[in-house]
Amino acid sequence: MRPATFAAILALAATHALAQVTSIVNSPHNLSASGKGKVHASSEQEICIFCHTPHNALPIEPLWNRNLPVSAYQVYSSNSLKALPSQPTGSSKKCLSCHDGTIALGSVYSRGQTIMMSGGVTTLPPGTKNLGTDLRDDHPISFRYDSTLVTKNGKLKDPTGLPTSVHLDKNHEVQCTTCHDPHNNSKTRFLVMENTASQLCNSCHVQGVTTVANHVNCNSCHQSHSAPSGPYLLKQEKTTDTCLACHSGGNKPPQGSNVATDIKKFSTHDTSSVINLADPYPNHVTCSDCHEPHTMTNTPAVAPNVPPKYGKVNGVTSGGATLKVARYEYEVCFKCHGNKAAVQPRIPRQIVQNDLRLKFDPTAVSFHPVEVAGKNTTVPSLRPGLTTASMIYCSDCHNSDTGRKAGSSGPNGVHGSGIPGLLARRYETGDNTPESATAYALCYGCHDQNILLSDQSAFKRHRLHVVNEHAPCSACHDPHGISSAQGSITKNSHLINFDTRIVFKNFAGRLEYNSTGSRRGNCYLKCHNRTHSPESYGP
Ligand code: HEC
Ligand code: HEC
Ligand code: HEC
Ligand code: HEC
Ligand code: HEC
Ligand code: HEC
Ligand code: HEC
Ligand code: HEC
Ligand code: HEC
Ligand code: HEC
Ligand code: HEC
Repeated sequence: MRPATFAAILALAATHALAQVTSIVNSPHNLSASGKGKVHASSEQEICIFCHTPHNALPIEPLWNRNLPVSAYQVYSSNSLKALPSQPTGSSKKCLSCHDGTIALGSVYSRGQTIMMSGGVTTLPPGTKNLGTDLRDDHPISFRYDSTLVTKNGKLKDPTGLPTSVHLDKNHEVQCTTCHDPHNNSKTRFLVMENTASQLCNSCHVQGVTTVANHVNCNSCHQSHSAPSGPYLLKQEKTTDTCLACHSGGNKPPQGSNVATDIKKFSTHDTSSVINLADPYPNHVTCSDCHEPHTMTNTPAVAPNVPPKYGKVNGVTSGGATLKVARYEYEVCFKCHGNKAAVQPRIPRQIVQNDLRLKFDPTAVSFHPVEVAGKNTTVPSLRPGLTTASMIYCSDCHNSDTGRKAGSSGPNGVHGSGIPGLLARRYETGDNTPESATAYALCYGCHDQNILLSDQSAFKRHRLHVVNEHAPCSACHDPHGISSAQGSITKNSHLINFDTRIVFKNFAGRLEYNSTGSRRGNCYLKCHNRTHSPESYGP
């Protein structure tokens, strides 16, 4: 705008009701004595003067009347950000000349003396309107938003299609004025457009589609400024608490499933840590490690596919490669339980392996069918609905003990359980456990107790060991699998991997299981002071 026109507007401002002027008069940006906001001058009558002057303006457009801040700012960063926010530039510096709280509001260039504000106010009082010089918790500004950035971040719209009210500053930069118009408060918070249904956010971001009504609005989880989490601009310091604001049950609507109870149980994914940019897969877990917050849908889960409730979350393949969008549930778990091996095995076994990728691999000696259908075609104990072609989830065994999957009514999920090992149902692993339907409820959920303990089982000696001798299933079986590099088809078929606290070498130094064909085999070992050298079973 030419200075002449601008001066004319400023001159008109005092008396004429230009739309812009009316709007500013009744807004918190009317800092004159007539201002209705909390912050205003004690006697100054002019409105525009706090920001503009028709005469003696600084050589900054539009007739700028304030010194620009010289502070060093801390700028936004995160692990997903592709933009490169610089120190504030352009119009943002104009806003920050008041909103970083370092320069007196009444300190204007055209007046010899600082304009006195009422109530002894000098700089912007502390609070949510004072952004400070730490901008790490504010929406990023002062970076180029162009098609190059869109190429790097596929979740952005091309800026050429921005609504007319949303405009970029010089050099295609996002600034405060991209979202705010300091003269027009008709949409509240000086926003350039309505944001009641996140229209403003969605004019640039395409985060994906969710079917959860309470997840649609960005401000369910995000806050544009002074966000407690810093990175990712979340409403609470921790991701978990951001989710638990709704997922704690209680009387406050909207009520999401009560996951809060689960994560306080005996065995949990420890979800209580703050965001740590130095370690994207740290030794703790947050909700967004399994649930991509923007793309969750509530259709039923079918193994081995990634449950729709996870959304488009990232993962690690069975081969160890990182994936932007996991296809299978186990790929989500392998981010932390693969070569990263977040936890040690619970039971000391003959063959030790912390990398679960190797235990479930299709080339492994034997495994529960999580990645591909199982190797054994004779599993008589399988309950109706399951066959040797079935696939199962990690979360069929690892789940809440009070969830629907465990036959109760609480939320499902690998959130926490009162049972050690984060198991959905009881699974006793101590020696000398009396057999019962509850002691091994986890296994009996899929393997019929009566068949297993009868001659119909492929191992006719189950009753002898489990019922008579009180040996737990875990004395002989590994619930996951035995890697190809460590076990052999003869010695480790049928998930045999002994618990070395219970089963020992015999006098000849042998601790072995040998499969000798379908439903037959023999063992060399010592257990409950009985020596097998060998003992055999068969049809
Ligand atoms: C609280 C500070 C503030 C006050 C008060 C203020 N303005 Fe502005 N105004 C700005 C800023 C900041 C810009 C620059 C926007 C940019 O760089 O994109 C601006 C720009 C302008 C422009 C240039 C066109 C545009 O909209 O960007 C005009 C015209 C204008 N102001 C008129 C006025 C008038 C008239 C008044 C008094 C009624 C007034 N302003 C009061 C902050 C203010
Ligand atoms: C002359 C100082 C000054 C400048 C320059 C200034 N503001 Fe403000 N702004 C204020 C004051 C004072 C308030 C009211 C604070 C309060 O009520 O606590 C305010 C309030 C706001 C609010 C909150 C409105 C509401 O509804 O509560 C927003 C948003 C805002 N300013 C954005 C901006 C943006 C964006 C710019 C730059 C384009 C800007 N301001 C420039 C002084 C300024
Ligand atoms: C990407 C859009 C965007 C950018 C860029 C942006 N803001 Fe905001 N700002 C918002 C939204 C949206 C709100 C309303 C927040 C709400 O109420 O949920 C807001 C609110 C505010 C408030 C009021 C805070 C409150 O709690 O009352 C101030 C002050 C403010 N912005 C100043 C600025 C300043 C100064 C800049 C530049 C440093 C800036 N904004 C950059 C979107 C933005
Ligand atoms: C004018 C376009 C625009 C608007 C409007 C906008 N954003 Fe952004 N936002 C961006 C761009 C561009 C980035 C940088 C993305 C990148 O570098 O990958 C960004 C970054 C972010 C980030 C940080 C991303 C990260 O990877 O750390 C969050 C969170 C965010 N925006 C949320 C919001 C929310 C919530 C709203 C609505 C209040 C909003 N944005 C409005 C353009 C916009
Ligand atoms: C249910 C809560 C929730 C809602 C609703 C939500 N977000 Fe997020 N958002 C998050 C969380 C949590 C993260 C951090 C993800 C992580 O830990 O990596 C995030 C990250 C982001 C990021 C940076 C990383 C990325 O995935 O691109 C952007 C940008 C973003 N959100 C924008 C938005 C926008 C825009 C909306 C509204 C359309 C929105 N979010 C709605 C929870 C939410
Ligand atoms: C503003 C409240 C709110 C916030 C914040 C929130 N949710 Fe939700 N969420 C709900 C409601 C309500 C439902 C639907 C009822 C239900 O299934 O619990 C829901 C459903 C879900 C579902 C199940 C989908 C379905 O329909 O069965 C998942 C998974 C979920 N939320 C995860 C999260 C995660 C992870 C976060 C944090 C990143 C989060 N939610 C933040 C309110 C919220
Ligand atoms: C972001 C990393 C991460 C992801 C993803 C993850 N976990 Fe974990 N998991 C951990 C950590 C760390 C612990 C240990 C928590 C503690 O001690 O509080 C753990 C603990 C466990 C435990 C309890 C072990 C014990 O000895 O009590 C089980 C079972 C488990 N996870 C299974 C899973 C399954 C199944 C998945 C996939 C659906 C999964 N985890 C995804 C990191 C992760
Ligand atoms: C058939 C049931 C079952 C399936 C399927 C299953 N687990 Fe387990 N898992 C268990 C049992 C039982 C334990 C604890 C007792 C034991 O080791 O005998 C356990 C222990 C764990 C532990 C604790 C450390 C360890 O190695 O003992 C982690 C972590 C774990 N499982 C993750 C997973 C992941 C990830 C998957 C899917 C890739 C998975 N589990 C699939 C039953 C299962
Ligand atoms: C969610 C259902 C499910 C649960 C729970 C389950 N299993 Fe299985 N199990 C299967 C399926 C399906 C097969 C068939 C795989 C095949 O054909 O090789 C199987 C096969 C087996 C086999 C034979 C493997 C082979 O290669 O010969 C053993 C041994 C076994 N399970 C033990 C257990 C034990 C011990 C538990 C309790 C910790 C358990 N299962 C819990 C579904 C389950
Ligand atoms: C280790 C992976 C994992 C983590 C971490 C995780 N969840 Fe889940 N979540 C699941 C699984 C598995 C389901 C069940 C999915 C299904 O059955 O479709 C689930 C389901 C849910 C549901 C829907 C409940 C239902 O009954 O269907 C909600 C709500 C939910 N999670 C919220 C959260 C919140 C909040 C957090 C953080 C405190 C969180 N989740 C952390 C794995 C996880
Ligand atoms: C003393 C060692 C031992 C104990 C204890 C044991 N098993 Fe087995 N189990 C075996 C052997 C050996 C086989 C392989 C039989 C064959 O096919 O040759 C087997 C096979 C199986 C099979 C696949 C064949 C079938 O009949 O369906 C299942 C399922 C199974 N066991 C489950 C269990 C469960 C559940 C427990 C605990 C309640 C348990 N086992 C306790 C040694 C044991």
